[in-house]
Amino acid sequence: MNICVTGGAGFIGSHIVDAYINQGYTVCIIDNLSGGTRGNINEKAKFYECDITSPEIEKIFEHERFDILNHHAAQIDVRISVRNPKFDAVTNIIGGLNLYEFARRFGVKKIIFASSGGTVYGEQTEFPATENHTTNPISPYGVSKLSNEHYLSYYKNEYGIDYAALRYGNVFGPRQNPHGEAGVVAIFAKKLLENTQPVINGDGQNTRDYVYVADVAAANLAAISEEVSGAYNVGTGRERTVTEIFDILNNLTGGHFGRVHGDAKSGEQRRSVISAAKLGAACGWQPETSFEVGLERTVEFFRNIRRS
Ligand SMILES: NC(=O)c1ccc[n+]([C@@H]2O[C@H](COP(=O)([O-])OP(=O)(O)OC[C@H]3O[C@@H](n4cnc5c(N)ncnc54)[C@H](O)[C@@H]3O)[C@@H](O)[C@H]2O)c1
Repeated sequence: MNICVTGGAGFIGSHIVDAYINQGYTVCIIDNLSGGTRGNINEKAKFYECDITSPEIEKIFEHERFDILNHHAAQIDVRISVRNPKFDAVTNIIGGLNLYEFARRFGVKKIIFASSGGTVYGEQTEFPATENHTTNPISPYGVSKLSNEHYLSYYKNEYGIDYAALRYGNVFGPRQNPHGEAGVVAIFAKKLLENTQPVINGDGQNTRDYVYVADVAAANLAAISEEVSGAYNVGTGRERTVTEIFDILNNLTGGHFGRVHGDAKSGEQRRSVISAAKLGAACGWQPETSFEVGLERTVEFFRNIRRS
């Protein structure tokens, strides 16, 4: 089976590529290296350095005849989407459609898509949210993720291409980029290891559902199966605050710092937590890695980078 992983040089995508290759699948990566790195690329994968909006995508799909498209390449930053909704839409909506059209023309049987349980629901009214919760995204990024889901439903109804839209909570773990504005675990871990004071935005009581990247890769393996079809949350069902994360990471790195708070960032959702019971019922998936162990592994990863 030949699987295309877009964004396979990035944080989550590279873990998925590794998991697929470990299972014996043939994997091709499409990535423009805007956020990912060559160092993340599994040497057993074929790599096309290409933008998902490019006309070159046609030649790749014509040549490779993928069985499955796993689409993870994206503009990933909610705040950039607020500052520049058009850029977000060109990458996340037009880029998606560019892939889906060639997937349709060149025989792809299933599309697995990285959606966002943290943004498609908007401010939640039920905790944890199931897939039946109202979708009311409050950022252009959330709008772009949800619109991809609608297009995938269209391609399924019109052309019979199956899909799984995996609505992730906040994914964390090794290889996450600590330089951006998203990814509080990576940002805090890096700062603490550099002996620099991390700043908690606002009161630090915003909550998110943090899911470890290896568990997300396992969900992408499970999503190959016919049993997994439609939209699924991928999270733990547990809320964690930013101060809680700061405290655990601070302890893991020697406990040198106290809590320092800065201004709250406007437009951030207060609470986000999702139920993955539907995915569990479809294929038995559940998160295997405890929050504490995931944080330990992440700190270890950033510690090793500093040593090398
Ligand atoms: N990290 C999370 O918590 C989270 C939560 C929900 C959904 N997601 C989604 O998961 C996916 C992967 O996110 P990540 O956290 O691994 O981010 P990442 O930045 O590490 O990975 C994204 C990859 O896409 C590539 N890319 C970006 N624009 C591209 C383009 N135009 N053409 C080709 N390649 C391009 C980047 O180079 C990068 O390698 C994204 O779709 C993101 O929206 C992430």
